[in-house]
Amino acid sequence: MKSDYVWWRDGVVYQIYPRSFADSSGDGIGDLKGIIDRLDYIAELGVDAVWFSPFYPSPDVDFGYDVSNYIDIDPKHGTLADYERLVEESHKRGIRVILDLVLNHTSDQHPWFLESRKSRDNPYSDWYIWRDPRPDGGLPNNWEAIFGTPGWEFDALRGQYYYHMFYPQQPDLNWRNPQVRKACLDVVRFWLDHGADGFRLDVFSNFFKHPDLPNNPPALGLRAFDRQKHIYDSNQPEMIPLLRELRELLDSYPDRYAVGETFMPTPELVARYTAPGLVHGAFNFDMLGCHWDPACFLKVVQETEKTMHHEAWPVNFLNNHDTSRSASRFRSGENDERLKVAAALTLTLRGTPYIYYGEEIGMRNIHVPRRFIQDGVGEKYWPIFDGRDKNRAPMQWDATPHAGFTTGKPWLPVHPDFPQRNVEAQRKDPKSLLNFYKRLIQVRKDLPALRRGLFQPLTYDPRNLLAYLRQTREQTVLVALNFGRRPVRLAVGIDLRQRSWRLALSSHHEKLPAFEAGGYLSLAGNEVLILVAET
Ligand code: NOJ
Repeated sequence: MKSDYVWWRDGVVYQIYPRSFADSSGDGIGDLKGIIDRLDYIAELGVDAVWFSPFYPSPDVDFGYDVSNYIDIDPKHGTLADYERLVEESHKRGIRVILDLVLNHTSDQHPWFLESRKSRDNPYSDWYIWRDPRPDGGLPNNWEAIFGTPGWEFDALRGQYYYHMFYPQQPDLNWRNPQVRKACLDVVRFWLDHGADGFRLDVFSNFFKHPDLPNNPPALGLRAFDRQKHIYDSNQPEMIPLLRELRELLDSYPDRYAVGETFMPTPELVARYTAPGLVHGAFNFDMLGCHWDPACFLKVVQETEKTMHHEAWPVNFLNNHDTSRSASRFRSGENDERLKVAAALTLTLRGTPYIYYGEEIGMRNIHVPRRFIQDGVGEKYWPIFDGRDKNRAPMQWDATPHAGFTTGKPWLPVHPDFPQRNVEAQRKDPKSLLNFYKRLIQVRKDLPALRRGLFQPLTYDPRNLLAYLRQTREQTVLVALNFGRRPVRLAVGIDLRQRSWRLALSSHHEKLPAFEAGGYLSLAGNEVLILVAET
């Protein structure tokens, strides 16, 4: 690989939800040893880094996103020694380690909170956002929590309300307290010193709230949470100097990275936080709002291109642990052709692609009957929203019981299609989605223009097609994606015969297609076509 290769910029990131990836102990919950046993698979995929959803000690009200100790590993997932081995074994295979830092809130079982709630004058009393009831006994202000309760919870021990953006068991830290700021940056330092290459910052844009806690103004919306503009409970200006400080800390170690989960993101917010000197990347969720509609994807890409700083680097993804799996969202049935188009989209756009475990074999959502729902939001909002269990099912490794995920009883059901849809079966099938992902990742590695090149859309048919160039001074890559099931003739708007193209990848053909006069190109139904020309 050329020496200007920057792992987080040129590379591909794979997200693992540790509870569901591989269980070595037989308790039905995934663990670090299980992941270590599967590192060869991850290396074989060709990805450069893994983002691990949290594996710190947690009472699991929000399955790891309620942390009760930032600098240890939950015994159900392993030990610090397992973590050290995970880092070592990952690095041996050229895989970087991205940890999930949940620093907006802790668990209500975190010692900081247990101390804080004891009295109004103990050393931790100001580590969270505490307020007296209003004189009429009412809540301190109108803020709502996104998981369906008011944002304030009364704590009888301390006789005050504390604020939480998520579950009541996830009290928000008071980032305005310099001791909190220091303690959290010490957590970052701890993991940097323990081999972490980067961090995903959970809901980082929420760390600061307005110091006076004014009521949020009203908005139109369905749920109480949506019926207000979240201008005082998030995106406060103090976040910028904090990110600068965090970046300086990261930059004091070689090659480190941070990607932020922008909460309630807009392209403007993503642009604000990824400006030079702040985070390296920030998730923009707009693509998740697109149906199987190339015009929608193009609009999101163009909006991103237009809004972000020219030096900033986008993040592209279609799946994560909070979202219905794209294979189900895009209504692919049992056919994986659409998913190859979706894969090509994330892996050929300008930006860092993120792949969510199981996406590469086209895992579908599982069905979880109401009485078995484990995700609290799903219980709360069923049947309008059935929660996130459906997209967190155990990884489908092979056709053995429980898909080879565990020898015990898996914490969530395995998708019943696992005897056919699994890693082992797809490894053997040259036409499988898994092998297509591998080829795409390799093509991306081989073609600098695909990694670094400028994005330029070509004429397109908004119902069926997306075609674009990725260009550097030395190389041009043409990507054509047929979203439709029927063959199409694509008017690319440039005379392809003037350049000497070679075929980098086609999901359907082995040979370079014929170029028709007038800049036409024919594509098979759901074809992915990637051509390359050197300048
Ligand atoms: C965002 C995480 O992705 C989600 O899973 C979690 O529930 C909330 N943040 C709260 O930490």
